[in-house]
Amino acid sequence: MTDIETMRAISQDVYGAPDVLRETRLPKPAPGVSEILVAVHAAGVNPTDWWSRAQSTFIARLPLVLGWDVSGVVEAVGVGVTVFKPGDEVFGMLPYPGGAGSHAEYVTGPARVFTHKPAGIDHVQAGALPLAALTAYQALVDTAGVRAGQRVLIHAAAGGVGHLAVQIAKARGAYVIGTASAAKHDFLRSLGADQVIDYHSVDFTEVLSDIDVVLDPISRDSAARARSVAVLRPGGTLVSILPVPIDAGELAAIAERGIRYESLLVEADQAGMQAIAALVEAGALRAHVEATFPLAEAAKAHALGETGRTSGKIVLTVRDSKAQLAQQMLQDVFVRGDTAIVDRLVRPDYIQHNPLAPDGPDALKYFTAGIRQQFPQAAFEPRRVITDGDLVLLHSRYVMVPGTEGLAIFDLFRFQDGKIAEHWDVIQEVPATTASGNDMFATLSEPRTDAIGQRWFTAYHKELVTAFVDQLLVRKDLTAIDAYVGADYHEHNPNVSAGAAGLKADLGSYFDKFPQSSVTPKRVIAEGDLVAVHSHYIDTPGERGRAVVDLFRVRDARIVERWSSEQAVPETAANDNTMF
Ligand SMILES: NC(=O)c1ccc[n+]([C@@H]2O[C@H](COP(=O)([O-])OP(=O)(O)OC[C@H]3O[C@@H](n4cnc5c(N)ncnc54)[C@H](OP(=O)(O)O)[C@@H]3O)[C@@H](O)[C@H]2O)c1
Repeated sequence: MTDIETMRAISQDVYGAPDVLRETRLPKPAPGVSEILVAVHAAGVNPTDWWSRAQSTFIARLPLVLGWDVSGVVEAVGVGVTVFKPGDEVFGMLPYPGGAGSHAEYVTGPARVFTHKPAGIDHVQAGALPLAALTAYQALVDTAGVRAGQRVLIHAAAGGVGHLAVQIAKARGAYVIGTASAAKHDFLRSLGADQVIDYHSVDFTEVLSDIDVVLDPISRDSAARARSVAVLRPGGTLVSILPVPIDAGELAAIAERGIRYESLLVEADQAGMQAIAALVEAGALRAHVEATFPLAEAAKAHALGETGRTSGKIVLTVRDSKAQLAQQMLQDVFVRGDTAIVDRLVRPDYIQHNPLAPDGPDALKYFTAGIRQQFPQAAFEPRRVITDGDLVLLHSRYVMVPGTEGLAIFDLFRFQDGKIAEHWDVIQEVPATTASGNDMFATLSEPRTDAIGQRWFTAYHKELVTAFVDQLLVRKDLTAIDAYVGADYHEHNPNVSAGAAGLKADLGSYFDKFPQSSVTPKRVIAEGDLVAVHSHYIDTPGERGRAVVDLFRVRDARIVERWSSEQAVPETAANDNTMF
């Protein structure tokens, strides 16, 4: 007898509420002819998941594993597959309805429903896209043929399908009108919507006319449909994506007005996925992910989705992201005192840049166990995490002894083949008071959230901060502050006074006092509105200087906030790697 390889999956034996979903182990599938086996990293959750969970619909089979969205890595290819090879990062939608099964560690599907994942987005982003983006693309482009200059109305524009449809219609050059609750109007405008309508307070039929295309995910009966028909111009198209019956009489009446009515059910579609990948690569399409849940919490994802009030997408993370792994390791070794994770997560050739610790995973275990012994009540509170390619940067407060101010620490990890290969850190004691009056961790710029926003602009923000640091800190040109820093700037470096004026005055005095000082940026790490610069500061030539991480937040093309930590580079170190 041979051992059967198994995998984790979310399965249900009965139809019903979210609690029918349970994590179970199932045999790992093998790819059939023309199929690929994908190690799922992330998978979106769509209304059809909660709909198909609750009742026997298009797929009447139990036990059932749901999930049509896939983003992951090809593990194996079946007979005849030439377009992918193991190791390729792919995303796609499994054939609807029968092909479901991505809410699991592995799934198989026809090779030609997938395409290569754009390198610029992670699996969570890619896993959010397939079903919803294909629906929007097939409705607007394949079915309605939206062209530049057309007026396109998108109902439920903040939802999973709607928010992608807004961007796709914009990319076609259309004038885009979206309906949503007022609180979501800024979100729609940020996606490019030209006009937004609060469907709670405004009757769209009274303010709209001459519409070329309506994308309709909401109208369940003829009265609701008639309202969309009423705003279309003769020759216009109404694409319904609700698979509800419509009788011949109503169809005839719509046709008589010269309007084309189409009811669309999304199809697995490699050409569509390629078009979506191209839009992503061109910077024209991006999923907004409202929430992610680990696979085991699929029921929570369903319950949230079923509220019908979410913006953008909900995604299940199936394999942990680098950011999660880095946090998990610090949590385990410093807070739980469990170093087992080091064996799983740290490469044998691990390179350490903390000057007190030698290289290698064993040294890391002894080092962290020693700290843990000395500070058994240590607590670790991660505040910001940036992932940029193979680097993960954590900005955290470590409180080694309860009741003390603690330490402001930047930990920087480099990953290689899913494991940690290298680590740098910069550690500063949190002082009792700061020059600006701001604490070293708070977020004061709007919106006041520690979550990363504006991922679309990562590359631009990285360029902007690199140019700013070069002009201000490397070339010592204080006018960089006028050019790059917002009026409402928040400073968290404890030694620098408040606001842009404080920064200018304090840096000016520093440059005067240390005319031969230098700043050498070593690496820039960016995600969304956060950009960190890891640099070597030297006040006087010949001294060892300081290791510094400056973390900037960028909003509307202006630097609006900075956090930082610095640490003197010691004379000697337990490793030969320097702090950089
Ligand atoms: N035919 C197909 O192949 C296909 C494919 C995908 C989806 N669908 C269907 O299309 C619908 C939308 O899917 P989805 O993924 O976008 O769902 P979703 O993400 O769950 O939609 C939630 C959004 O809908 C908005 N909304 C609800 N009622 C609205 C109304 N009357 N007017 C304007 N906005 C409204 C909500 O905004 P507020 O909070 O502002 O109300 C919320 O932002 C679902 O019924 C789904 O089953 C069909």
